[in-house]
Amino acid sequence: MKELVTSIPKLHAGDRLLCGPGPSNVHPQVLEAMRQPINGHLDPDLWNVLLDLVEGLKALWRRLDGVSLCLSASGTSGMEAGIANLTEPGDKVIVIHAGFFGARIAEMARRAQTELVELTAPLGQIVPLDQVQEALKANHDTKLVGVVHAETSTGVRYPLEKLAHVIRATAPDALLLADCVTSLGGEPVETAAWDVDYAYSCSQKSLGCPPGLSPFSISERGLDRIRKRQHPVSFSFDIDLLAKYWLDRPAPYHHTMPILQYYALYEGIRLALEEGLEARWARHEDAGRYFQQQMRDRGYTFLSDPDHQLWELSAVNVPEDVDGKQVQSRFLRELGIEIGGGLGPGAPPIWRVGLMGVNANREAADRVLAAFDAVLPR
Ligand SMILES: Cc1ncc(COP(=O)(O)O)c(C=O)c1O
Repeated sequence: MKELVTSIPKLHAGDRLLCGPGPSNVHPQVLEAMRQPINGHLDPDLWNVLLDLVEGLKALWRRLDGVSLCLSASGTSGMEAGIANLTEPGDKVIVIHAGFFGARIAEMARRAQTELVELTAPLGQIVPLDQVQEALKANHDTKLVGVVHAETSTGVRYPLEKLAHVIRATAPDALLLADCVTSLGGEPVETAAWDVDYAYSCSQKSLGCPPGLSPFSISERGLDRIRKRQHPVSFSFDIDLLAKYWLDRPAPYHHTMPILQYYALYEGIRLALEEGLEARWARHEDAGRYFQQQMRDRGYTFLSDPDHQLWELSAVNVPEDVDGKQVQSRFLRELGIEIGGGLGPGAPPIWRVGLMGVNANREAADRVLAAFDAVLPR
């Protein structure tokens, strides 16, 4: 019979270069910020920190209207909060998907009992915009269109700005929900200029912070939709309540925030703004382009359509004669480098290499390339 233990070993986390689909390595100054003294979540000094953080979030999402806040939960909850706030049972929702995370948006919309229309494409491709336009014409009562901007499972970028144009021209009342979990901080995400109603992200990828937070941004139109709801939203995800907690003073208690996590996010965003968003996007693009060209020079190919290839994440096709999982495991065990494999049932044989946050540079790319050369001499 099993017995209860009386102690557990001391924690020894291995040192890794995290070049998978996320988390990426945490910036040292972000880790340092987490060592600052903890203030209570109802301490007026913390409230001021939070208000500065909100200004940083607005700058990151590039939106002054609506609200830009953060959920004390991971990116998946950002997705769920969007569906929960912006749909009601019976609403028509179009989800555009060609990958694991897009399919998850569809699954959430299904569970929320919406009338779901799914538009799909083969992995590595995008659903063409004219197909979206046709679907909107046929479903003029669509309340919400959901899409993943940067699909981490395939390395594909969806043309979000063009999609927003198509929606506004064809079904102006439909709101646009965009998963920016991998794109925020790593490439342009212009929520106001592109007219994205609800966008959510995570802390652990291009922002170089620990996992567990989901920054999000919602437009005035999105807030208006929430005000007109027939049914209340679940308490934890109620954006109206969250906005009061983040912005009203004195702050009406909603939940006890993971304060050290927020210090980390604060520092991560401060560093991103100090670097300059354009410079940061360019750094991610340079690292991705460099890695992809070097891999092509070695004879590797990619899953993604080259016209829609992400920089932050490259889905490399595993050559036919190679055991992809074994290579991943050798990278980790022998070289301390994490890369990802295919995600979910039906995933093709791929490696997913992420160059995000502090790892978005040629030095990290060179370490991954050297690992490929060492484990798979060609
Ligand atoms: C595109 C995308 N959406 C959503 C998620 C879910 O985020 P989290 O794992 O932080 O819940 C991920 C995570 O990798 C992702 O890559």
